[in-house]
Amino acid sequence: MTDKRQTLTYVSMCVAGLQEVAEEMLRQSVTLSGSPTLMDGLLVYSTTASPDQIRRLDFFSNSFLLLRSLTPVSQPQDRMDELAELAAHLPIEAKEISALTQSGHLKQGQTFRIVLSDENHLVSARPDTMRRLEAAVSQTAGLNLRADAHRPDHEIWLLRRREGTAYYLFRLTRRTTSRQLTAGSLRPEIALMMCHLSQPRPDDIFLDPFAGYGTIPLARLNFGPSQLVFFADIDEAMVRGFRQNHRGAAIRRQIITKQMDALQPDFFEDGFVSTIVTDPPWGYYESMNQMDEFYRQMLNGFRRIMRRGGRLVLLTARKDEFLAAAETFSLQFEQLRTYHILVSGKKAAIYVLQKKESV
Ligand SMILES: C[S@@+](CC[C@H](N)C(=O)[O-])C[C@H]1O[C@@H](n2cnc3c(N)ncnc32)[C@H](O)[C@@H]1O
Repeated sequence: MTDKRQTLTYVSMCVAGLQEVAEEMLRQSVTLSGSPTLMDGLLVYSTTASPDQIRRLDFFSNSFLLLRSLTPVSQPQDRMDELAELAAHLPIEAKEISALTQSGHLKQGQTFRIVLSDENHLVSARPDTMRRLEAAVSQTAGLNLRADAHRPDHEIWLLRRREGTAYYLFRLTRRTTSRQLTAGSLRPEIALMMCHLSQPRPDDIFLDPFAGYGTIPLARLNFGPSQLVFFADIDEAMVRGFRQNHRGAAIRRQIITKQMDALQPDFFEDGFVSTIVTDPPWGYYESMNQMDEFYRQMLNGFRRIMRRGGRLVLLTARKDEFLAAAETFSLQFEQLRTYHILVSGKKAAIYVLQKKESV
């Protein structure tokens, strides 16, 4: 049977600074038609993958189906009004609507709201313009959609970027916002991207020695088999909490939990661990003065327990302190890649290092 699926264009958001990593992961997940367009924290790409397949790409923070690309307006003032006016006069194409109705995303009589995003800020437009735009969406393909600003089934976005591009979009995902996450836990999208950067393999002996709520070891389970996955943390309450949260679940069989001081990883024999992916303390909330010394002791432990050629992927906002510590171990670890990102508004970086073969 031939595949009659149409090529659709999607717009997905990711952590700013990680768009190249997102592109690599996207290419491993779906077949693309042509090259994606990459902007800071945003990818625009075409594929025959269905809206459902795109919705499941959880390394993206949000994904949208592109309804129309809009020509940027010239005057900076009133630009969202003009964009909204433009969108109100452009019919949404049948191909996109049938992809949404066939996949069960969009049904007769459902509700929607319009969201206007201008350079990453939510803004409003003139009420009469909004009414015209809502009326145009309501009449789409005879679906009798209704505007509901409070509890809509769907969101239609008008998104304008600093680069001057603008998109008319149907939102496919509703990810947990930072405010809904447990304080101190890493965003799952970042954990997934960090695991990808560790180049997961079936013979991995994987460790997160600062595991906290376990976001990183849990993310590793999405990348296929491994020999062993270890969750370790110095805080007994965190270890107990993780065990309780995942009691009886299959996860308990796949992740080994251990209370351990990452600076003294005596539990592990020399060269046992193939991969460390971790988010160590940044020393802002804890009373830790000597972060460079903390990172030096940490790297000294990692150097001993890691196998040659093994990968270390680490996130920190204490870039200078980490780089000073890494410099001390430059004979043991090669720095492969660095990604500068923002985590909860703080400048941070993901470092990818490899234990050298020769040590
Ligand atoms: C930034 S948090 C990790 C958050 C984790 N990635 C998550 O998503 O939940 C750092 C963790 O390191 C732990 N920690 C601090 N000092 C440690 C040490 N010396 N050895 C092991 N764990 C330590 C803390 O208890 C905390 O859970």
